[in-house]
Amino acid sequence: MDDIFDILVHMKTLREYILEAKEKGVAIGHFNISNLEGLHGIFNAAKKLNLPVIIGLSSGEAEHVGIHEAAALIRTLREQHNHPIFLNADHAHSFDAVKDMIDAGFDSVMFDGSALSIEDNIKETKRVVEYARSQDRDIIVEAEIGNIGTSSKVVDEIPEGVATDSSFLTTPEDAVAFVNATGVDMLAPAVGNMHGMLKGKSNPRIDEVRVKEISEATGIPLVLHGGSGLVDEDFTKAIKNGTCVVHINTEIRIAFTNSVKEAMEEDPDQVTPYKIMGESDEAVEEVVERRMRLFNHM
Ligand code: G3H
Ligand code: ZN
Repeated sequence: MDDIFDILVHMKTLREYILEAKEKGVAIGHFNISNLEGLHGIFNAAKKLNLPVIIGLSSGEAEHVGIHEAAALIRTLREQHNHPIFLNADHAHSFDAVKDMIDAGFDSVMFDGSALSIEDNIKETKRVVEYARSQDRDIIVEAEIGNIGTSSKVVDEIPEGVATDSSFLTTPEDAVAFVNATGVDMLAPAVGNMHGMLKGKSNPRIDEVRVKEISEATGIPLVLHGGSGLVDEDFTKAIKNGTCVVHINTEIRIAFTNSVKEAMEEDPDQVTPYKIMGESDEAVEEVVERRMRLFNHM
């Protein structure tokens, strides 16, 4: 019988899981964390469903959690439970930030140069790809083109500049040119998606035809950002048409915050943090489980 070390050696890489997802027509869930409660909720859902999962840290989240702390936590969960959990630098805005996170042991990096001119975005993304390829570990590099907004929060209106009208979405031509020029492994295009959730209604619809065109033209796995607030059908269609990773953050933040608010309302004198946050991991787990089931046709 294999001992734990043999089993760990044989665990598939993130690249293999992503390619497997593409082949099977499913998507890996990518969920952001700000704290241990979130991490436990996400991990428990992934473990329960026996599915690989990616944990994301945006720059704000990374600052709060600590990149070395996050890397140690993910490695510990992966090794102790022999479960495929991976860590992604989500929306890193500079080469230096990416470098620090790769050096800390992250499995993948999402370089977000979408606010730069296309020339600068290509230039900086290339630097990131070169650095990732110079490592002796396999590191996935993802990049973003197009404008899908920046914040994982509840908003009254679609943020200014977000591309939801089809004439502003990423074109297959731009996507191919970007992928060829940079050599990225995965691409996050603007296909009608936006970060954050609209108050009281669903987010704008995803252009599934555009997803398919970009997927076929580039041939690489696509990533759907801004998953919170989308109708279920949009996930299913985006995944069917070449999306292999889906990012969710705002829905998790809401689940955590509501749970803490409820606990504080129920017992305003409570001062023990683990009691105030005691049910928040389950609240996160519920959201994550529902989304993962959808991404995997379960
Ligand atoms: O990178 C993070 C995601 O794109 C999260 O977006 O907060 O709209 O779910 P969301
Ligand atoms: Zn995102």
